[in-house]
Amino acid sequence: MDDDVARILLHREQIQARVRTLAAEIAAGYAHHERGLTIVPILAGSIIFLADLIRELPMKMKIAVVQLSTYPGRSVTAGEPRILMELAGDVRDRHVLIVDDILDTGRTLRHVQEMIRRREPASLQTAVFLRKPGKAPPDLRVDFVGFDIEDLFVVGYGLDFGDLYRNYPHIGVLRAELMP
Ligand code: IMP
Ligand code: MG
Repeated sequence: MDDDVARILLHREQIQARVRTLAAEIAAGYAHHERGLTIVPILAGSIIFLADLIRELPMKMKIAVVQLSTYPGRSVTAGEPRILMELAGDVRDRHVLIVDDILDTGRTLRHVQEMIRRREPASLQTAVFLRKPGKAPPDLRVDFVGFDIEDLFVVGYGLDFGDLYRNYPHIGVLRAELMP
């Protein structure tokens, strides 16, 4: 995988440190919610971030996964997200935190936020590991952001290209020749 990456944008040590401070921000925000949270991770991109983040969160939580597909195998967004797996678990009257890998155009998150709002949670917030600048509509709310990055296609730490590189431990930019 190293050979396929042109440059590392975020090193694993940087990532670990930020996930810890981000978890502290999230924990502080939910300190008064005694019934705990329902985390809604968006598969599959969020899995590594999810695993690191929730082990730094001290409160009780349930996990209710959803799976969507926006651009299967390609690096440009094509149309509306498609639901591959419905929300597994009840979020009604629960404090819900959506967890996703990256906010790009915001289509994925808007879709999931609307789906959850219809189910009447007690509250709804969103945490993303990465955010690209300027492409998401200004009214799309994310409450917690790990890193703001340049508008580049990145892989690793859960993010894929053609379903590969999710296990790459850093956030890297793929070599241009590998992109379509
Ligand atoms: P959005 O719906 O355009 O905000 O895109 C969000 C989804 O697209 C993310 O959950 C990722 O799965 C994928 N995505 C967006 N940008 C990248 C990238 O740079 N690398 C890998 N996946 C990406
Ligand atoms: Mg993805």
